[in-house]
Amino acid sequence: MSQTPAGAPDATSPPVVHPGDGSLAQDAQERCRRRSTISGASGLVAVLGDPVRHSLSPAMHNAALQELGLDWVYMALRTPPGRLAAVLAGLESVECRGLNITLPHKAEAAQLAQELSPLAARLGAVNTLVPRAEGGWFGTNTDVEGFLAPLRSGGVSWQGQQALVLGNGGSARAIVAALTELGLAAILVAGRRQQNLDRLLQACGGWAPTLEGVPWSAGPLRSALGGSALVVNTTPVGMASSGDPEPAASPLNPSDLDALQQGATVYDLIYTPRPTALLQQAKVRGCRTIDGLEMLVQQGAASLQLWTGQAVVPVNVMRQAALEQLAAQSPTHP
Ligand SMILES: NC(=O)c1ccc[n+]([C@@H]2O[C@H](COP(=O)([O-])OP(=O)(O)OC[C@H]3O[C@@H](n4cnc5c(N)ncnc54)[C@H](OP(=O)(O)O)[C@@H]3O)[C@@H](O)[C@H]2O)c1
Repeated sequence: MSQTPAGAPDATSPPVVHPGDGSLAQDAQERCRRRSTISGASGLVAVLGDPVRHSLSPAMHNAALQELGLDWVYMALRTPPGRLAAVLAGLESVECRGLNITLPHKAEAAQLAQELSPLAARLGAVNTLVPRAEGGWFGTNTDVEGFLAPLRSGGVSWQGQQALVLGNGGSARAIVAALTELGLAAILVAGRRQQNLDRLLQACGGWAPTLEGVPWSAGPLRSALGGSALVVNTTPVGMASSGDPEPAASPLNPSDLDALQQGATVYDLIYTPRPTALLQQAKVRGCRTIDGLEMLVQQGAASLQLWTGQAVVPVNVMRQAALEQLAAQSPTHP
């Protein structure tokens, strides 16, 4: 059974290009032609990060804004480290309608926001800022909701199961928070540096009671893999940098992969390349696979709902725009 939501493309299939189209360049031209003119009254929404050059968010959000008929434009604004406070103050002054925050600013944004959702306060990380009527920014985190969407729509009961998270960085915390909502019996986190692993266990221990650390060495790692119904890669291993023609590496070696349960779900937060080497190898071993594109789309949709106050946003349009942009950026695209 697929873990992909109904109507969504298979997470491990190659990017789907616009149905019945001529070329991606024509698609892009058509999108530009259809895009409403930016006027003096246009509202601004944006993503702040560094780097942001290859972000899929502008394509995804501008397609949704157009579909919603909103006179807003979404920009990717490169914000170097040390400049976030100044950029936020400036954008508040020009009545920016909302922001996404990406690397390396998620933790600093949580410190700078005037108000935080309980989830963002718990994680100490913000990926969405909403302007407050009384001034300043409300910060929250939609990565958790985005991550959970494909797991919840797959029809699998996670109650009483074990999950293993590979990696102990920023996104691992959000994934642990998400996994606590699934009723799992145990959440294991594997880290290669004991000090960093301990830091995550300490930060999450108060609200994730079933959390345990696993050293990244053959015996403990394989035992954890063998007992897990869900394995989530939050390391960057396997991510192709833009323009990199080489197939990427996998965070698990073949012997580790052989320890996977048949029928386990392997979820990789990475979505370039599609599929990642990890997901390719897991599929060969009879696992269900999910990549990070749906998480990206769903966290974006949740942000857009918060900025616009609209309960329903065009998720399918956002997914299609993200897939088209990804295909246009792929190294194999002429
Ligand atoms: N799909 C989405 O919407 C989405 C959202 C967020 C993030 N992501 C992706 O998730 C990945 C991680 O992001 P992040 O913000 O969590 O990064 P991060 O804070 O830098 O954390 C990366 C983690 O991976 C570990 N790691 C790196 N190389 C490793 C290796 N060779 N073996 C074992 N562990 C290794 C690091 O270990 P140490 O602590 O020992 O250095 C660290 O714990 C990125 O590829 C990012 O693009 C996707």
